[in-house]
Amino acid sequence: MAETGKRRISILGSTGSIGVNTLDVVNQLGGRDAFEVVAITGNTNIQLLAEQAKSCGAKLAVTADETHYAALKDALAGTDIETAAGREALIDAGGRDSDWVMAAIVGTAGLAPTLEAAKRGADIALANKECLVSAGDLFVKAVEEGGGQLIPVDSEHSAIFQSLEDDQHHAVERIVLTASGGPFRTWTREQMAGVTAEVARAHPNWSMGLKISISSASMFNKALEMIEAKHLFNLRPDQIEVIVHPQSVIHSMVGYTDGSVLAQLGCPDMRTAIGYALTYPDRPKLDVERLDFAKLARLDFEAPDEVRFPALRLARTALQRGGVQGAVMNAAEEIAFHAFCAGRIGFLSMADVAEQVMDAMQERGAAGTMDEVFAADDEARRRAGEIIARMEMAA
Ligand SMILES: NC(=O)c1ccc[n+]([C@@H]2O[C@H](COP(=O)([O-])OP(=O)(O)OC[C@H]3O[C@@H](n4cnc5c(N)ncnc54)[C@H](OP(=O)(O)O)[C@@H]3O)[C@@H](O)[C@H]2O)c1
Repeated sequence: MAETGKRRISILGSTGSIGVNTLDVVNQLGGRDAFEVVAITGNTNIQLLAEQAKSCGAKLAVTADETHYAALKDALAGTDIETAAGREALIDAGGRDSDWVMAAIVGTAGLAPTLEAAKRGADIALANKECLVSAGDLFVKAVEEGGGQLIPVDSEHSAIFQSLEDDQHHAVERIVLTASGGPFRTWTREQMAGVTAEVARAHPNWSMGLKISISSASMFNKALEMIEAKHLFNLRPDQIEVIVHPQSVIHSMVGYTDGSVLAQLGCPDMRTAIGYALTYPDRPKLDVERLDFAKLARLDFEAPDEVRFPALRLARTALQRGGVQGAVMNAAEEIAFHAFCAGRIGFLSMADVAEQVMDAMQERGAAGTMDEVFAADDEARRRAGEIIARMEMAA
């Protein structure tokens, strides 16, 4: 807490979908009267980053991309806002003294700065699931040793966090992650084979960044969430279920040994989970849409189809194999995602790439250090690139 009594916060990835929603929640809860914004970071959207820095009074604004540094400096000339660029500056932003950090950089790029924040004991609001998927136990250990709290922001994990009763972890039988099913829920594999990134990014319920939207369409996002859940809630793989729930109203559930199932419900709006993570254990008063049950009328559920959506099967494989398979699956999928967006491979090939890289690296044991995590991540990316190049040659 600052001397002024304000809560000191940083937002890693402030220019993204979660970042923008976080600043909206911060404003709803008092803005500059209640919060001191220590650092915000972006990558390519310099205009928005500069506007955000000015309007929230950030002390530091960082772009991860050094080629945008001059533009950021120009945009903030005449203010007393410090500017910086590059990977080290991003890590420094995570390390700056603040009470709470929103981890909302997309992909593995978010790992190092979030880890820095965890190590110094900040409370971490975790939207970046890749931290747990890639670094799992090492990341959890860093948070524990730092002494801060790890509060999930992914709506599913926030729902589970909210449905877990204190001191009843021993009575948790299973968790049930809900999945909307994405835009291709009812499509055949033949129909999915030819889709473009433009079609795949149109999520039926949630408004999100490009990567998570496309990963939701392939259900890789759910696969990452299964691994995220294992580490967040210390679960066995057989305790993690997925159910398709097209309305995205039940955000996830916890099943207990007495047969009870506790769930958290709400309109699909990330600001609820962000607000909860910001004010935990209190609940904030937020201007978000309320559920109208009469209008909703029904809630539907379907078993997920692991043939049409092999990402779910790959997540189970990664969970069973352990080792660095989470980091490998995540890195390979990230490379495959970029290749799909560039039109180099088809939608269905993303899972093929991830599976081939996972199989090739299945003997690798658990990482004992972060350097080993980064090495596995690098190797998986290289292997994925090679597989994609071969796919292109064969096409
Ligand atoms: N959106 C959601 O509703 C939602 C829900 C649950 C979980 N999540 C998770 O939250 C994270 C963020 O998702 P999002 O949808 O907000 O993503 P997004 O809209 O794509 O925003 C990503 C943020 O990361 C920055 N960024 C991109 N590449 C970077 C790099 N190489 N180094 C540093 N910063 C980089 C972007 O900067 P620029 O925009 O300036 O380029 C932006 O600030 C993801 O891990 C996602 O899985 C998102």
